[in-house]
Amino acid sequence: MDTVTITDNRTGKSIECPIKQGTHGPDVIDCQTLYKELGMFTFDPAFVTTASCESKITFIDGDKGILLYRGYPIEQLAENSNYLEVCYLLLYGELPTTTEMEGFTDNINRHTILNEGLLRFYNGFRHNAHPMSILVGVVGALSSYYYDAMDINDPEHRNRSALRLIAKMPTIAANSHNYLIGHPYVYPRNDVGYVENLMQMMFSMPNRPYEINEVAVKALEIMMILHAEHEQNASTSTVRLAGSSQAHPFSCVAGGIATLWGPAHGGANEAVIRMLQEIGDVKNIPKYIERFKDKNDPTRLMGFGHRVYKNYDPRAKIIRNSCHDLLNALGTADQPLFEIAMELERIALEDDYFIERKLYPNVDFYSGIILSALDIPLNMFTVLFAVARSVGWVSQWMEMMNEENLRIGRPRQLYIGASQRDYVSMKQR
Ligand code: ACO
Repeated sequence: MDTVTITDNRTGKSIECPIKQGTHGPDVIDCQTLYKELGMFTFDPAFVTTASCESKITFIDGDKGILLYRGYPIEQLAENSNYLEVCYLLLYGELPTTTEMEGFTDNINRHTILNEGLLRFYNGFRHNAHPMSILVGVVGALSSYYYDAMDINDPEHRNRSALRLIAKMPTIAANSHNYLIGHPYVYPRNDVGYVENLMQMMFSMPNRPYEINEVAVKALEIMMILHAEHEQNASTSTVRLAGSSQAHPFSCVAGGIATLWGPAHGGANEAVIRMLQEIGDVKNIPKYIERFKDKNDPTRLMGFGHRVYKNYDPRAKIIRNSCHDLLNALGTADQPLFEIAMELERIALEDDYFIERKLYPNVDFYSGIILSALDIPLNMFTVLFAVARSVGWVSQWMEMMNEENLRIGRPRQLYIGASQRDYVSMKQR
């Protein structure tokens, strides 16, 4: 067994930590005995070098720009697969046969409707709420409907929860939008595909059915495949940590949605469009590039940089092409925001500041432009990301719940507060 020796130079005491190897990627030092043997913790703020679990779902090589779902390259899945098939792959580890896919689709369709009681929750939200806040609330509330019938230790129950979540997310998301713009609630349709159904719930009215646009559906389908899963990012880690306490899966996912909302994570797609609108014209780009590089200015180039990808995000490459195809097909190829984005990307990729820090476009640099071209309102961008990612969250949750020795997650800390002291009564302070 290969090991790493860790020595406390103050005492000379050493321990041998086993080196563990995965299928791909860097080896890890198994330091589980560190505290027991040396009385020390590891210190790794923001978990930059910590592998928090073993997983068989997704592999990322951030230096080479590789992303695999269950071993399959994202480029091949985006080209040949569809979102529901990718859901099956992520959940169960293999691509489905025709019969398996029919059964899976049938199962999802069976769960698309929401309990009518849940609809009353929408009315409690402020008229101009951000739809992500509605999503957090309504998905959390979903746990109240499936509480008694759910045995967390039964794999069949866990599977049913996963199917329910994937099936209901589009209905919940689309109707957050309908509530906010004062449109009637739209019921799901099982005679159209998953992505078509999401669009018809967002855009149809009782007096005006939505005409399905195949080009739009294809673009959204690709976007959803690219956003379906991304290993132990902040929102997924939130779901896993919450789930490790054996909490109800829908409440764990509500925690994941809350984490995704932030502009450093899923909120970036919305932030990119706001930034492009603010830049307004290609001629203003140099001025903004200077601001993005200025340490005294908090403005960052949104949609650039990634904790793991220190190369072009492979998803950004796919979505850039998809964006181009979509704008051409819709006849809006000269869209000003797309022009600004392409020029911004060109300039940033030649600039030493971004080159030295290995800052490349991430998936959200272009996803917002696709969503804008599809007439999806800005505040719904992160909501659609959450719909797509729900399969990643439940796949990771199911994998964790299947572990033989599931233990509650509990990071430690380096305490730097006051040393122990005695209480002083108020009169004496
Ligand atoms: N614009 C300008 N400078 C940046 C940017 C950026 N977008 N991103 C990182 N930097 C700089 C930092 O200032 C830092 O510079 P320094 O070394 O001189 O101090 C260096 O690059 C390293 O940045 P960190 O913040 O340490 O990198 P970290 O891995 O912690 O952050 C993150 C990654 C949050 C994605 C960051 O790059 C960022 O804020 N990007 C913009 C927001 C964004 O697009 N988020 C979407 C992520 S992808 C997703 O969730 C789907």
